[in-house]
Amino acid sequence: MVRIFSKIHLKTSALVLASTASFLLQADPQLGKDSLDDVIEAMTLEEKVKLVRGTGMNIPGFSTPTVGMVEDKVPGAAGTTYPIERLGIPSIVLADGPAGVRIAPTREGDDNTYYATAFPIASLLASSWDTELTYAVGRAMGNETLEYGVDILLAPALNIHRYPLGGRNFEYYSEDPMLSGLMTTAMVRGIQSQGVGTSIKHFVANNHEWNRKGINVKVQEEALREIFLKGFEIAVEQSQPWTVMSSYNKVNGTHASESHKLLTEVLREQWGFKGFVMTDWFGGEDAVAQMVAGNDLLMPGYDMQHEAIQQAVKAGQLDARILDQNVENILKIVLRSPTFKGYDYSNQPDLAKHAEIARAAAAEGMVLLKNNANVLPLAANKGSIAVFGNYSFDMVTGGTGSGDVNEAYTVSLPDGLINAGFKFDAQLAKQYREYLSAEKSKRPELVGIEKFLPQEPIAEKQLDEASIAAAVKNNALALITIGRSSGEFSDRKAENDFYLSDNEQALLTRVSKAFKKANKPVIVVMNIGGVIEMESWKDKADAILLAWQPGQEAGNAIADVVSGKVNPSGKLPTTFARRLESYPASTNFPGVVTDPDAKPDMMGYVPAEVTYLDGTDIGYRYFQKAPEKVVYPFGYGLSYTSFSFAELTARVAGGDVKLGFKVTNTGDKAGKQVAQIYASNQSAEGAVSTLKTFAKTRLLQPGESQLFQLTVPLEDLAEYDSASKQWKLTAGQYRIDLASSIQSVESSTTVAVNQTQYFAL
Ligand code: BGC
Repeated sequence: MVRIFSKIHLKTSALVLASTASFLLQADPQLGKDSLDDVIEAMTLEEKVKLVRGTGMNIPGFSTPTVGMVEDKVPGAAGTTYPIERLGIPSIVLADGPAGVRIAPTREGDDNTYYATAFPIASLLASSWDTELTYAVGRAMGNETLEYGVDILLAPALNIHRYPLGGRNFEYYSEDPMLSGLMTTAMVRGIQSQGVGTSIKHFVANNHEWNRKGINVKVQEEALREIFLKGFEIAVEQSQPWTVMSSYNKVNGTHASESHKLLTEVLREQWGFKGFVMTDWFGGEDAVAQMVAGNDLLMPGYDMQHEAIQQAVKAGQLDARILDQNVENILKIVLRSPTFKGYDYSNQPDLAKHAEIARAAAAEGMVLLKNNANVLPLAANKGSIAVFGNYSFDMVTGGTGSGDVNEAYTVSLPDGLINAGFKFDAQLAKQYREYLSAEKSKRPELVGIEKFLPQEPIAEKQLDEASIAAAVKNNALALITIGRSSGEFSDRKAENDFYLSDNEQALLTRVSKAFKKANKPVIVVMNIGGVIEMESWKDKADAILLAWQPGQEAGNAIADVVSGKVNPSGKLPTTFARRLESYPASTNFPGVVTDPDAKPDMMGYVPAEVTYLDGTDIGYRYFQKAPEKVVYPFGYGLSYTSFSFAELTARVAGGDVKLGFKVTNTGDKAGKQVAQIYASNQSAEGAVSTLKTFAKTRLLQPGESQLFQLTVPLEDLAEYDSASKQWKLTAGQYRIDLASSIQSVESSTTVAVNQTQYFAL
């Protein structure tokens, strides 16, 4: 009896113990409180798969594979991740893009507005050659990201300007990887200083839009390493972006998002990337291959991907440890997100303050290309200005697509001129405004996805002789704006885009002839996002200001430079060559369809291929061998003052080249100058000069000098060596140029590298 009792007692105690333990177990581990390992171990397969695919997306006018949750928290954001509430994992929000936070400006049933600042495009920021300025813009963008409840800004973008017709070149910095990489680093640091994340994109070799998802980019390892990967390498190593966005295209046969080499070997093992990788939207084809490659998050995420991953794990085709690693990479970033930290966002960033930053940045990045007889700056009292050109009245703040921003306003050129105290020809302006509004009223209203796409421009207004004659009579000078817009989904065209339209040529010719006859100057403002042809018309202008797409403060920023309030200090980040054929990529841009019978995929793309025959012959690397093809070289830009460069010294010390030099303002106006350092191996036949570093002066008063001491790691003089698959620094004499453009070397010296050295990738 006693034995029976004790047996029962023992059994009961065991039951009690077991149920207490299961009660304890039932308290699920919580993200941030318990270890990541415990959280991941507690996740079901279903939950893990949910986490590695976004929640889907609403595309206006399209029924998509899944309807997302994006609308719930931040309407207009690009995507969200799944929350897993029982484990304390919140949903994080991702929004575009490179020129500012792209979200819906208004919300149903809500009187508040959610405008974001349209900052200048990346090509303009690169033209400033000012990393501190780029950092400041990043900080403001990051603040808007934070205050609008977004965790990761899908920016910056740093694909290389390989060819002028690339439809998204405006979103990218430069034809040069060093400039791109250093600008990206500054931008990432600025944005992330606000406690939000970035996604540097599009990794990699995504240099055009045509068939972007179906195209196979065939590129040699040397060009891949030295040109296309280099900027990403600099940015990853120097700024640790929270995330990287893999590109749509294939690289040498494999989708970037499915490439273990790119996403795991290069990004993580060689460069030490610590964040997570996400696909571009609907990018790649094989969700399981993406997991294996190290593409942790599939965006925006759809059900077929979910099923494929789940099935593969169940069938033992996808190692569960790989999925765990993807989950861990994502969770490490979720832990750092404002949403996880419970940040109480205001929905009220300081837009007025950010508009000032946008305006200052825009003026700093404009490039003065021509200024005959010092026509600029204009004193405010010089008489009335005849403002010509459709785009003067309808300025392009930035490109279209995900690189666009929903800003509250755009300052037109006439408004900017008025704000700066200038007078302009109201009668002429009226003609333009009436023409533009009549042309716009003829266009059907854009619906759904159309709003996202680049639109055909309105034909440049043709003026009658009497209007031009009246403008000459009533004004002291002419100001003509030539504008361009492009964006995601298509590349630019040669006719009426790279080359000016007949109407534009006629406008320039007629206005220039009439004003020159009256001895009155003609100034051209280029409100563009990428290179256009200039050789045929540049002689018609006395002054040319490349204003790029300068963001919402466009007119004010242009007026700041035109008036002399800001002395221009921008330098070209990309070569302006004579013709499209001048660029080596012209022989095969954008590529060819490989299977004409193939059915287009769900986004309308077909299999295609492009071979980068230009190799490393991109931009000034090529044009220094063919200078006659250049109209305005890389690094070029004028100022209202002049500068001298002196006392260049260079020595090799402890694995670095140590440089010293002095820049002096030799003119009569305060201004800033950019010092560019190029290097080339004198001992190697045909070696080209490449940018190694740069520095911008502070605002120097007339007669004032600034001393610089810069360091270039010897490793940065090395080239990719395909034999050893390493960076190789060949022994020899290296020329160091201190320059004000690739074509204007101000001072040179040499350093000796005594022994050939190799550096790991
Ligand atoms: C673009 C990306 C963008 C994403 C989300 C894609 O179409 O290529 O740059 O971040 O959409 O909007």
